[in-house]
Formats: sequence, structure tokens, C-alpha cells
Amino acid sequence: MKTACRDFDPPLYNEHVVAGRRSQYAMEPQIVQRNGDDVQRTASKRLMGKVAVITGGARGIGAATAKIFAENGASVVIADILDDLGTSLANSIGGRYIHCDVVNEADVESAVNLALTWKGKLDVMFNNAGISGPEGSITTIDMEQVKNLLSVNVNGILHGIKHAARAMIGGQKGGCIICMSSSAAIMGGLGSHPYSLSKEAIIGLMRSTACELGVHGIRVNCVSPHGVASEMLVGAYRKILGKKDMTPEEVSKIVGERGSLLKGRSPSLEDVAEAVLFLASEESGYITAHNLVIDGGYTSASSEMSFIYH
Ligand SMILES: NC(=O)c1ccc[n+]([C@@H]2O[C@H](COP(=O)([O-])OP(=O)(O)OC[C@H]3O[C@@H](n4cnc5c(N)ncnc54)[C@H](O)[C@@H]3O)[C@@H](O)[C@H]2O)c1
Repeated sequence: MKTACRDFDPPLYNEHVVAGRRSQYAMEPQIVQRNGDDVQRTASKRLMGKVAVITGGARGIGAATAKIFAENGASVVIADILDDLGTSLANSIGGRYIHCDVVNEADVESAVNLALTWKGKLDVMFNNAGISGPEGSITTIDMEQVKNLLSVNVNGILHGIKHAARAMIGGQKGGCIICMSSSAAIMGGLGSHPYSLSKEAIIGLMRSTACELGVHGIRVNCVSPHGVASEMLVGAYRKILGKKDMTPEEVSKIVGERGSLLKGRSPSLEDVAEAVLFLASEESGYITAHNLVIDGGYTSASSEMSFIYH
């Protein structure tokens, strides 16, 4: 029986890792503004020459990731259903836009094919597209709405892994697949029932596909953010709290005060994008089958009893 180690191509892999380390240490640090704070980053372009597809890349976390990928030297294909937003973002970062409803397998295949015809390869697939809801009690849940949510959040990601894996196996240079899960997969009570179901399913799919694809040098990981004031989250807060005019700042304030161990600090779109960049880069070259949680510690520990430390 073949093993992952024996099938691996050590020269290729070591070359990447060594190159990543060299570039990291060779560069001077750079200060950038994120979320009003100064953040120190290495000046190296961590995805130089890489080709990426981002589903749901027209706005929110996907758009922030597209910008950070491009800043780091990647050629980015944005695949979304918001054509105007997606096209203008793609134009602004020297990328490409394609209309892609992740529910349709053929659309996702076309997005991957665009990367192949444009740049001849696919290095990074970020399966990010997702929707929230339907809210409400388990006792009255509408199964058609559940099916719709699962077709986007689960089937959409499955389509992305399938076609990215085909392209990456064909390219014989490994690759990196990142799937969007959520804090709602880890802790109950943070999303609607079908949403939690979908996001936990994604972690299972990530782990099983990481098992199969490791032999090809393809890493598969998840990110699980919590409480990012995107259009999706702000829309959900407006609906649940009945406050039509609620702003992203108000949502961030609630998350910072009640949904984070880092009191007063809530996650920005860029906090998540930077974590995705890490998983897409060679700096995470030995990380696979991992779920990187970006939640200010919220799902790992409770601060309710923290008076015992003071
Ligand atoms: N905001 C948060 O706090 C949070 C937390 C955990 C996970 N997430 C996940 O992050 C991902 C991005 O969400 P966001 O918060 O940036 O919200 P968002 O609504 O701003 O972005 C979602 C993007 O996905 C696209 N999309 C939706 N359905 C699609 C489809 N069928 N085909 C292609 N694209 C589609 C939308 O057009 C949009 O561009 C989602 O999967 C979401 O579940 C968000």
C-alpha cells in the first residue's frame, strides 16, 4: 500500500518550504493599518506567482481576502453571484471575475477552468461563499429552506473541493484548499440550526478530503471566524433584534463586549483574511486537516468566572 510520505515529491516540497523561510527572514518588517491599529507584517509577497479562486469574493470576508491575496502577489479569480461588485473588485486588483453560483457544479468548474486558462494553474482555492438562516425553532423549521441553505453552504464547498482537487492533482504541484466554516460549528447557540449543521459538515468534509489529498501535496484546512460585522451578520442582527438601522459598528461593539475574551475587540474582515493568507502561504506548509478558529478565544474559554484570577 502506498503511503503519503512515500508518494510525496520531497524536492518540490522542500524547495517551497525553504524558499518560504528565506523570503520571510530576508525582508524588513512593514507597518500597515488594520482596524485602526498599526500591524507589523513582513514586506515579502507571500503568494507571489500563485493563482487563487475565491468563491463569494465580491464582498465581505471574501473581498477582503481577494485584496490581501492580490497585495501579496497572487492572481485572483473572484467567483460570485454579485456581478457588479465582483467585476469592479476584480478590475481594481488586476484579477478576473466570473459569475458563479456555487450551487451549480458546472459554475464552480468554470471558475476553476478560468484560472487554468488565464494562468495555467490553480494553487489556492478559498471556498468561502455561504449564506445564513433560516432562523427559528427546530419545531417549525421549513425543510425547503434547509435544503436551500445546505445546497449553498455544503454542496457549494463540495463542488469547490472537487474541482480544485482535480486541477491541482492534474498540475502535480500540490496546492492549498481553504474552506469557510464558523464558530457556529464548534459551539451551539451561535447560528440557526441549519447553519450550524452546514458549518460542522464542512469541517468533516475538510478532514476527510485532507486525508485523501495529502498524498498529492494538497493541504485542506478550514477557517472558523466569529462575529465579523459583514453584511451577512449585520443583516442577521437587524432581523433578530428588529432594528432595521443597526450599523456594523453597533454589531462590532456587541461582539467585542459579549462575544470575545479580548474585551472590546471584535474581528475585522482583515483579521479573517490574514488568517486565510497564512493558510494559503508556505508559512503554513505543514498544516493540513486543521480548523483555524478566529474568535478572540470565545469558543475555547468562558470569562464568566475570571474574577478568580483577580
Ligand atoms: N461574518 C461572520 O461573522 C462569519 C462568521 C463565520 C463564518 N462566516 C462565513 O463567511 C463566509 C462569508 O460571509 P461574510 O460574512 O463575508 O458575508 P457576506 O454576505 O458579505 O459574503 C458572502 C458572499 O458569498 C456570496 N454568495 C452567497 N451565495 C452564493 C452562491 N450561491 N454562489 C456564489 N456566491 C455566493 C455573496 O454574494 C457574498 O459575496 C460565509 O460562508 C459565512 O457563513 C461569516
